Amino acid sequence: MIDVVQGPATAVDATRVTDTPTAAVMAPLLTGSLFRSDRYHFFPVLASTNQQAAQLAQAGAAEGTVVVADQQTQGRGRLGRQWSSPAGVNLYCSVVLRPTLLPRDAAQLTLLAGVALAHTLTEWGVAGVLIKWPNDLLLQGRKAAGILTEMRTDRSGIQHVIVGIGLNVNGQAADLPLELRDRATSLAESLHSAVCRPPLLAKLLAQLDHWYGRFGREGFAPVRQEWLACSRLLGQSVGVRLADEQFSGQAVALDADGCLLVQRADGMLARVVAGDVTLLGKE
Ligand code: BTN
Repeated sequence: MIDVVQGPATAVDATRVTDTPTAAVMAPLLTGSLFRSDRYHFFPVLASTNQQAAQLAQAGAAEGTVVVADQQTQGRGRLGRQWSSPAGVNLYCSVVLRPTLLPRDAAQLTLLAGVALAHTLTEWGVAGVLIKWPNDLLLQGRKAAGILTEMRTDRSGIQHVIVGIGLNVNGQAADLPLELRDRATSLAESLHSAVCRPPLLAKLLAQLDHWYGRFGREGFAPVRQEWLACSRLLGQSVGVRLADEQFSGQAVALDADGCLLVQRADGMLARVVAGDVTLLGKE
């Protein structure tokens, strides 16, 4: 845990602010209408905040329920990967949403969360924030955050969607598995100073609240437009790796479902629903 000390050393006890986003610390910071303090759950350690949020949602937890852990022992990433989740340095947060959406449109919420995350970091003063399709947040080309969206459906449609966000805040390269060290970064590495996690989390939740509200009122169009601005993806040469094939081409559009359309070198138009996309540079 990092304790952030504000004010002169003589006043430490009165002004010491904890860096851990417990319910007590977060309550005065949760000023929006969706993510309220009575729906905020903090755990020192969890297997996965997405797993815990899904359990709460299945038990009837309301939209706007937030699950945060200081550490995850089985943090989940996309495509069955693990999410490195050491204690006391980063943010691991999952929110419960109950949107009126077709299941096939749920991926739009991943893009929405990417927009909220990008705005949070830019407002925090972080330079060079870029979204990489569909849900990686890059700082100077290195991954600082990821989003894992999972949903439960029944015959009537979506029961709930869990949007899980992992943000590397104060973690150092040495905290990461060897294979990730040259591809990952954190806010602290980018800003050259430690970041206090509770106000950062509050800003992220306020951004999610704002964009989810707009999404509810205006649909996907404004999110899509903002996502395109934050990704600067269209027109770029990209490499695409799917489970069973790899190809390269040019990113030409993001469709209404949030899928990426890639004009392949062989002339075919590919609609990328899931997979890994890497930027190869401007054509
Ligand atoms: C990715 O692969 O880029 C997505 C990573 C998502 C990680 C977050 S951390 C909070 C939430 N709980 C999890 O188990 N995963 C997500």
